[in-house]
Amino acid sequence: MVFDPNSPDFKRDPYPTYVDLRRDAPIFRDAQTGFWFVSRHADVSALLRDRRLGRSIEHVLSREALGLPPKNPRYASFTKLSENSMFDKEPPDHTRLRGLVHKAFTPRRIESLRDQIQTITNALLDAAVPRGEIDVLEDFAVPLPVTVIAELLGVPEVDRHRLRPWSHDIVAMYELNHTPEQADRAIQAAEEFSDYLRHLVRERKHNPQDDLISALATVEEAGEMLTEDELISTCVLLLNAGHEATVNVFGNGLLALFQNPDQLRLLLEHRTELIKPAVEELLRYDTPLQLFRRWVLEDLEFGGFHFKQGEEIALLFGSANRDPEAFSDPERLDITRAENPHVTFSLGIHFCLGAPLARMELQIALGTLLQRLPTMRLDYQPEFRDSYVIRGLKDLVIRF
Ligand code: HEM
Repeated sequence: MVFDPNSPDFKRDPYPTYVDLRRDAPIFRDAQTGFWFVSRHADVSALLRDRRLGRSIEHVLSREALGLPPKNPRYASFTKLSENSMFDKEPPDHTRLRGLVHKAFTPRRIESLRDQIQTITNALLDAAVPRGEIDVLEDFAVPLPVTVIAELLGVPEVDRHRLRPWSHDIVAMYELNHTPEQADRAIQAAEEFSDYLRHLVRERKHNPQDDLISALATVEEAGEMLTEDELISTCVLLLNAGHEATVNVFGNGLLALFQNPDQLRLLLEHRTELIKPAVEELLRYDTPLQLFRRWVLEDLEFGGFHFKQGEEIALLFGSANRDPEAFSDPERLDITRAENPHVTFSLGIHFCLGAPLARMELQIALGTLLQRLPTMRLDYQPEFRDSYVIRGLKDLVIRF
């Protein structure tokens, strides 16, 4: 089976290859990377819920036992961020951290953002409409979630322009093959971002405000053990996770609507009733985070294969979301789809903590864009960025 996730053709459109993988090699070990690749919906879902796999392994096996070199001290700032983040923890640490964050990141706090999201959306469109054209990514889909998550956490307005570049440099490390230059930028961003947040966190501890950073700091004050490093890692995680994928769902999704004019027309005609299933379908159809990895924590048999402790499994979310065993007519964009068990927000203990916020942002942003710019059109072929795991467009300029 020829599978090259670095080939430009694959990155441009991975979906035809996924059809072949699901049919001919739904589970296989890639000799070059040593990863197991898993492409069917049922297998991806089962493995996401399987506690014999984990996002980290060093609580079970040392790097030496894994045959890995000692950690490079050059990466210290980056390593420290991941080591203190729930994203890269397994129980019991994951349970404790996620529980504490959940306590501050309440459904009420999220719901209270609804009016604010609408106000920010309107302001961004007010600025764009007189121009007659807009890059939906840079002028709308990026500033909206960045502003929302910054408001929620309580990052001062004057500093917000720094968040996106820091975050962008850090998440580049999640690609399968990052370059040394990308690693350098990620290390520097991790250092600067952590220093910045350390000051902010200390300031909020002394002078609490009505924001999430203060709430997280108070959870720690109440004796529930969020260390300062954990607090910083949590803020970085929320700031990064809080906008990277949302931006790309918006871009990929809007492009899919332009490429399926019948669906765009249907949504324009029945916006209020269809916005919720439409957003779910856009989350499924062109998945913004194509792959997530898991470590094998103990030897196990799965689907006729033997996974050994210390091996890594790459779960192909983009493929699972197009599996005909889980979705009828999966290659078709259908904004009225009633059953939509997509795995875009993952499953199991790491299920996206921000899913309700992401859904609310996408519904308000897309609904308002369609309402305000019903004549919008796209008259060129936008290109995807040269990345695979994080799938998103370079730009998406629309005219109206
Ligand atoms: C459409 C937008 C989004 C998508 C597609 C998305 C997707 C994901 C996925 C797939 C995971 C789990 C990864 C795994 O299982 O290994 C995850 C975890 C997470 N997401 Fe999101 N996310 C989105 C938006 C957000 C937002 C808006 C926030 C916060 C404000 C957020 C916060 C988090 C956090 C904190 C985790 C870690 C949960 C844990 O490890 O227990 N996400 N997200």
